Amino acid sequence: MAKVCVITGGGSGMGLEAAKYFKDRVVIISGRTEAKLAKAVEELKACGVDAYYKTCDTSKRESVKELVEYALSKGEIINVINSAGISPAMSSTDPEKILRINAMGTVYMNEEFSKVMNAGSVILDVASNSAYVLPSFLISTKVYALAETDEAAFIKKMMKKASLAKEGYPRAGFAYALSKNFVVWYAKKCAIEYGKKGIRVVSLSPGLIATDMGKMEEKDGGMLIPFACEKRMGKPEELGFALATVADERNGYLAGVDVLTDGGSTTHMKEFKKM
Ligand SMILES: NC(=O)c1ccc[n+]([C@@H]2O[C@H](COP(=O)([O-])OP(=O)(O)OC[C@H]3O[C@@H](n4cnc5c(N)ncnc54)[C@H](OP(=O)(O)O)[C@@H]3O)[C@@H](O)[C@H]2O)c1
Repeated sequence: MAKVCVITGGGSGMGLEAAKYFKDRVVIISGRTEAKLAKAVEELKACGVDAYYKTCDTSKRESVKELVEYALSKGEIINVINSAGISPAMSSTDPEKILRINAMGTVYMNEEFSKVMNAGSVILDVASNSAYVLPSFLISTKVYALAETDEAAFIKKMMKKASLAKEGYPRAGFAYALSKNFVVWYAKKCAIEYGKKGIRVVSLSPGLIATDMGKMEEKDGGMLIPFACEKRMGKPEELGFALATVADERNGYLAGVDVLTDGGSTTHMKEFKKM
């Protein structure tokens, strides 16, 4: 049976770059925009990847279930890279949408895919180094746990926290950081649960990366660049390689952690800024 790698958000950015490293298996990229996916499949085929696409909105459980069925029709699902996400600049007037896609989308993906994955497979959830900038009083794992049991209460309580910031971009920024802090926590929780089945779960937190999204966030995220060891944005292909290697099944003992891939900027800020 063919090995299958599923990459949400694979129509662009770091997800698309990651897809280029899986030449020995079927790769399914997904996202909401069919034209973008069709173009990305052509690009992948030209690189020698056996690529297909399936439209999917990860913020809708039914849509995720359809993606699971499609992936199963192609073979055994070995790697899932959940790179779908939106940033504050993409949803500054609707911060709740950020929580629904970035946080609840991750829950639907992990829950639905883990049901059909076997020992030796891996789920990689893409978070962000924004996960590390929140004041600790905003972080509540009790609220995070509601995502699996009471979605409405989870969204309401997360929105209440985000609403401590001014409407517009600042509130969307809080919602984004909260959504990604949740992803880091949730991937660790899933790693412990799914580990019993032999499914490895990891999160990876990029810093500011020069994808379409990263360029939209450069105005605010650019303040991080002086803290990066090389004082530059990350390249999409660097992050693609990081995602592909972390999600590679040969990396079998890497589980239950967040791989902070931000050029050293968070460590610099948190541990060495005073120097
Ligand atoms: N670039 C950065 O600086 C940076 C920094 C930290 C973290 N990240 C995270 O890295 C991941 C990848 O971002 P990127 O930089 O590669 O940006 P990108 O090129 O904008 O990729 C994001 C992809 O997600 C898809 N997407 C958005 N909402 C979706 C949904 N509801 N369902 C399915 N697909 C959806 C988008 O396609 P459609 O719009 O067609 O659906 C798009 O192809 C994101 O999770 C992002 O939050 C990025």
